[in-house]
Amino acid sequence: MASRPFIVGNWKMNGTRAMLSEARAIDRAAQRHMKVEVAIAPPYTLIHAVHREVEQIGVGAQDCHPGDEGAFTGDISAPMLADAGAKFVIVGHSERRQGHAESNDLVREKAQSALDAGMQVIMCCGEDAKTREAGEAASFVTKQLKSSLPELDNAGDILTVAYEPIWAIGTGNSATPDDIAEMHAEIRKLLVKLYGEEQGTGVRILYGGSVNPENAREILSTQEVGGALVGGASLTADSFFGIALAA
Ligand code: G3P
Repeated sequence: MASRPFIVGNWKMNGTRAMLSEARAIDRAAQRHMKVEVAIAPPYTLIHAVHREVEQIGVGAQDCHPGDEGAFTGDISAPMLADAGAKFVIVGHSERRQGHAESNDLVREKAQSALDAGMQVIMCCGEDAKTREAGEAASFVTKQLKSSLPELDNAGDILTVAYEPIWAIGTGNSATPDDIAEMHAEIRKLLVKLYGEEQGTGVRILYGGSVNPENAREILSTQEVGGALVGGASLTADSFFGIALAA
């Protein structure tokens, strides 16, 4: 069961081969700072190239199709991602749930497909501003997660959850440590209920949403925060590793 803080860079739709130098720089820094587990999820087009260039950091994908193969123009399957060197798949990111109308059932099928292909899963969840202002954030997130998570015997070894309040993504306004602690505690309770005490407590819960080198130390020292899922600040080795060093 993984225990080191897990710092993951989600490059989203950013990155050409010119960014391989950043991946190499992140990898070199990670080789000097082993107390943190570091990974990046570049665009599909860079997964294999990054996999070939790095030694220490993990490489993953930002999504996958739920099927293994077939007439799905433009889609990418989990077996293809594993073949390209991906070690994990991010599923259920709010930009996919909202931007591509992904249901909880579809997210669960994607997670299962990634696991069946031998990869780990980072399962995203999070509420929008309206839900938070209505005081319904915790019930929304736990319901969303419960409907999205697959049945697992060894969740602590293959599953990571990322709580990313939608209103904090890309805005520069991260959630407060109190809000983060409260939600992560609710998520932990659900994980223990679903997977049992040992496996449920073994799942790392990452926070994502405007994490940067300045706020990382406070966020990463918050109760039940097992790491961070970083967007904008992961695009340069300096800012991304500034976050990893805060863990
Ligand atoms: O998946 C991580 C992402 O949604 C957070 O983005 O730019 O707020 O760090 P950002």
